[in-house]
Amino acid sequence: MKVSVKVPATTANIGPGFDCLGLALPIYNTITIEETVLPGTGVEINLMSEDEVVDEMIFDNIPRDENSIVYKAVEMLYNSIGQEPSELRINVQSQIPITRGLGSSASVVVGGLIAANKLLGSPADETALLSIATEVEGHPDNVAPAILGGFVLSSQEEDGSIICRKLDWPEEWDITVCIPDFELATNIARSVLPKDVPMEDAVFNAKHLAMLITAVSTKDEKLMKLALKDRLHQPYREKLVPGMKEIMEAFKHEDGVLGCVLSGAGPTMLVISYKYDLDKIKSIVRDIWEAQNIKVDIKTLKVEQEGAKILE
Ligand code: HSE
Repeated sequence: MKVSVKVPATTANIGPGFDCLGLALPIYNTITIEETVLPGTGVEINLMSEDEVVDEMIFDNIPRDENSIVYKAVEMLYNSIGQEPSELRINVQSQIPITRGLGSSASVVVGGLIAANKLLGSPADETALLSIATEVEGHPDNVAPAILGGFVLSSQEEDGSIICRKLDWPEEWDITVCIPDFELATNIARSVLPKDVPMEDAVFNAKHLAMLITAVSTKDEKLMKLALKDRLHQPYREKLVPGMKEIMEAFKHEDGVLGCVLSGAGPTMLVISYKYDLDKIKSIVRDIWEAQNIKVDIKTLKVEQEGAKILE
């Protein structure tokens, strides 16, 4: 038996929503799991990219055995029902660029889990899958929208349980993703974050996150423009993303641009705009990055309302 699952890309944080906000985007990975018939063949993981050579090089550094995150997730699911995964062939057809802050690893974890769950006769419900995916990923902000689609607020509570709620993202707000041609691994982007932050900064983010949720719920562009500020992760990550500061600065005084933030742990930048010239966004970002010899792929996308789905 063979099951394929199509999973959207995600962008996490959206400025002040560090580790708790995420949006699904219409770029997809398809994860296929097949129980192979030959005993003793163990796990086989194949990665296929539609992207450029640079991604093939990155693929070479990704474990394709029991150390892979997709295998870890699948193993946790099997173990949760008292079983061990046997011979599995896992294929990842990838469109989501890797190590760019667009949830490629979350998509693989989610796709692997949903496919394996189907193979096992669906013993785990959505909550259980979300819980395993969060355990593997470390935070729920990418996996929650990858599973549910849309704009999702999520939290891993102190008892380990996952809370998540889908909110309506205003249709008229454009999302432009600017994907540079260099990678930034999440573990490196997290290693520069401090263990403790000043109370002032914690309060700053709490206020701006509340503003962001209110702005989205009431479609208030003016409030959104004030809300997209962060002191918990972006300032620390600036040194890892050449051009980030200049790009954010360039959009500060553009009417119609609601904000510019790091997508997840970066290095992709996300520009949120309202009735604004999308070509101008592209040329601003391109000019800054190309002056630093950084190539960039820029796409304006609609929020993907549908989460991961099993392909029949
Ligand atoms: N919230 C996470 C971070 C997303 O910013 O590190 C990356 O997976």
